[in-house]
Amino acid sequence: MRDAAPQTIYLEDYTPFGWQIESVDLHFQLDPHATRVRSKMRFVPNPESNKDADAPQLPMFLHGENLKLISAQIDGIPVTPTLTPEGLNCDVPTGPFTWEAEVEIDPANNTALEGLYMSNGMYCTQCEAEGFRKITYYPDRPDVMSVFTVTVEGPHPVLLSNGNPVETKTHQTKWHDPWPKPAYLFALVAGELIAHPGQFTTKSGRVVDLNLYVRPGDEGKCAFGMQALKDSMKWDEDVYGREYDLDLFNIVAVDDFNMGAMENKGLNVFNSSAVLASAETSTDLNFERIEAIIAHEYFHNWTGNRITCRDWFQLCLKEGLTVFRDSQFTSDMRSASVKRIGDVIDLRGRQFAEDQGPLAHPVRPESFQEINNFYTATVYEKGAEVIRMLKTLVGDDAYAQAVTLYFDRHDGQACTIEDWLQVFEDTTGRDLAQFKRWYSQAGTPRLSVTESFEGDTLTLSVAQTTPASTATPDPQPYVIPIAVGLIGADGAEVTPTTVLEMTKANQDFTFSGLKSRPAVSILRDFSAPVVMDHDADHAHLLAYDTDPFNRWEAGRTLARNALLGMIRNGTRPNPAYLDGIQAVAMDDGLDPAYRALMLGLPSQSDLATALHDAGDTPEPDIIYAATEMMRDALAAKLDTALPALYAANLVTAPYQPDAVQSGRRALGNAVLALLTRRDDGKQAQAQYDSADNMTQQLVALANLIRAGRGDTALKAFEAQWKDDRLVMDKWFGLQVIEADPEDAHEIAENLTKHPDFNWKNPNRFRAVFGSLAMHHAGFHHATGAGYALLADWLIKLDPINPQTTARMCSAFQTWARYDGDRQSLIKSQLDRILATPALSRDTTEMLTRIRGV
Ligand code: TRP
Ligand code: ZN
Repeated sequence: MRDAAPQTIYLEDYTPFGWQIESVDLHFQLDPHATRVRSKMRFVPNPESNKDADAPQLPMFLHGENLKLISAQIDGIPVTPTLTPEGLNCDVPTGPFTWEAEVEIDPANNTALEGLYMSNGMYCTQCEAEGFRKITYYPDRPDVMSVFTVTVEGPHPVLLSNGNPVETKTHQTKWHDPWPKPAYLFALVAGELIAHPGQFTTKSGRVVDLNLYVRPGDEGKCAFGMQALKDSMKWDEDVYGREYDLDLFNIVAVDDFNMGAMENKGLNVFNSSAVLASAETSTDLNFERIEAIIAHEYFHNWTGNRITCRDWFQLCLKEGLTVFRDSQFTSDMRSASVKRIGDVIDLRGRQFAEDQGPLAHPVRPESFQEINNFYTATVYEKGAEVIRMLKTLVGDDAYAQAVTLYFDRHDGQACTIEDWLQVFEDTTGRDLAQFKRWYSQAGTPRLSVTESFEGDTLTLSVAQTTPASTATPDPQPYVIPIAVGLIGADGAEVTPTTVLEMTKANQDFTFSGLKSRPAVSILRDFSAPVVMDHDADHAHLLAYDTDPFNRWEAGRTLARNALLGMIRNGTRPNPAYLDGIQAVAMDDGLDPAYRALMLGLPSQSDLATALHDAGDTPEPDIIYAATEMMRDALAAKLDTALPALYAANLVTAPYQPDAVQSGRRALGNAVLALLTRRDDGKQAQAQYDSADNMTQQLVALANLIRAGRGDTALKAFEAQWKDDRLVMDKWFGLQVIEADPEDAHEIAENLTKHPDFNWKNPNRFRAVFGSLAMHHAGFHHATGAGYALLADWLIKLDPINPQTTARMCSAFQTWARYDGDRQSLIKSQLDRILATPALSRDTTEMLTRIRGV
């Protein structure tokens, strides 16, 4: 069915719903093509919206999409509502009343994976943000919170919904969730599933049954996820004082899912890639990501569910805070500096690209057409950075106090960013009006720092500018916490980390009493999400900085500057960079995971951004070649040291996905990548042949492909793993990621002809096309073949899954950086997609924003 006509929704138009719903009773009679949903709800006029006694009585509007209305009654009397493509209007009594309706839906034909749908024979739901309206008629908005009782009737052995089971009969289970919740947190799952059980006792003594439900065959991939859940529950008690509030917590793994996972109350639904793990089938990075996503969804129970969002403009209220909380969790479970560096790499790669292109929007947007398009890196990751800055500014104790007040004051409510900032103002007495610009303005601020030293005083002159954008035509200065430390010429720290608070467009900061001119380590631990221009002694900082993040950052800056020189002027790799990195890589006193990060280079896409920022036109082939040359130079520099460094980091103990072992593998594999450039893949072949875990096997395979000898291993890998869909996703993706830029689009196209290329499965689609979009030089191939291929498949996917199609359109968001030929090639593909009849609202909005007018 066609989507409703595009309409823009504005934050400033918010009005409360005219009624409250005291209780909701739902009854599901499951059937693949004709599921019947009966609903019974008690409506009472909302005092908030009925203050004006003379206001005319309007009909009630309930959302509803793709529903077949069978019957509707008010207080037991049949009514005939007026149906529209978006819902229904119905005249209702002035006082309280009971609404009853029955609708029919077709989950087997629901390929959009929103509402109630089927995946491999099981039923499941995805209701955030506006999917509940595809299940029944309802005021589908997060500020309408109610208590749900749900009966699920079907032939399946497992019938799940939110809350606690209260009645079980043959083929029927009744659930009750005592906590009022918005409809987007509703969930239902039914199928032939196996439970991996566990238990957790909360600090006040509540015994909580835990289950991880999976399809038969996946039982062996549950133990790690279960442990991660227990760790998360404990951590939220210890660090935030938050306890779980039901006797049961269920997680279900689903193969067809648009995103990572969903925090439905008491019944989290996960993309199987975000929860199933085993040593043989998952990499170290998979394990770390799974641990973080389980924590993220669990933490939503307080930041999202108990306190939810008033409207979808407030999405960052739950997502920014929950991402921040899960990053704190990972820092505590693993290495804080390694986590921070990884987060910053990700932020620069995804959020900065978004914030500096046509999709730029504030952390709290003020308008949208399709809310699904605003589950972005800006809302999530920049949203988390903003909270991190707030904590840096007020300090740890004040942060803890404010958050405690937030939970006390707003438990059970649907809140706004104003509510969130108010608890900080109330506990600290600070005026956060200027700080709030981080929520209302788009664009990445640029800081430029100049130093002067006179007598015993160092002066830092800092200027901040934020480029104007469509979303924010006239940006005003931000409050920016700038963490600074000073390092002496002998390498010792002369001034420990101090947080400067910048509030003006231009500001000077002084440090006196210095014996000699120090090296300035600025923006320590990446204290604000900004781009920094600062001419410092990066080589000195790479050798001596006491802030691990900035020490890494110094190496990264040297690498970037060297690469930009190579790209622009064909210069040779900078020897100071190579010397500095060699010293760090060989330093056994440093954490191997950290040394592995030091061996990385800025991404080709980040280099393209840097060139564009400096007024140059990035040339993808040249950027690729420079990066390759730099890797060769690193390999040559470390040459004879490589075999020993590789051997020293081989893990012989049985596989564990913990930080210590993964760190050693990360360093060993960073070394293997260099070694492969010297030995034509000999060591990679040995690693492939002896690997007993996916980390070692997959990295070895990647190196063999890069060495031009991957064919045999690729066939063997496929034969070994053809029945494991998550491993096969890796097989599909890796061939594109590791392809020569000349071949990437052709390899991707050939993979679409493979019998296992099930393009309706989002994980498999993303394995091929997400990888193509991430292959900078391959996607931006001068012929435009990469663009055309992606466009073909987006056109094909849009009618069946608009949400995943729209998300993947962001591959085109950087078009304006490139040369005129590439720009017109991309624009013609954007226009071709936009000309497709009945294109979804999701994709239309993304492409019109990307293309501009
Ligand atoms: N709330 C989810 C999270 O961040 C995100 C999510 C899962 C989602 N599925 C979705 C958002 C579908 C939009 C649509 O944990
Ligand atoms: Zn979330």
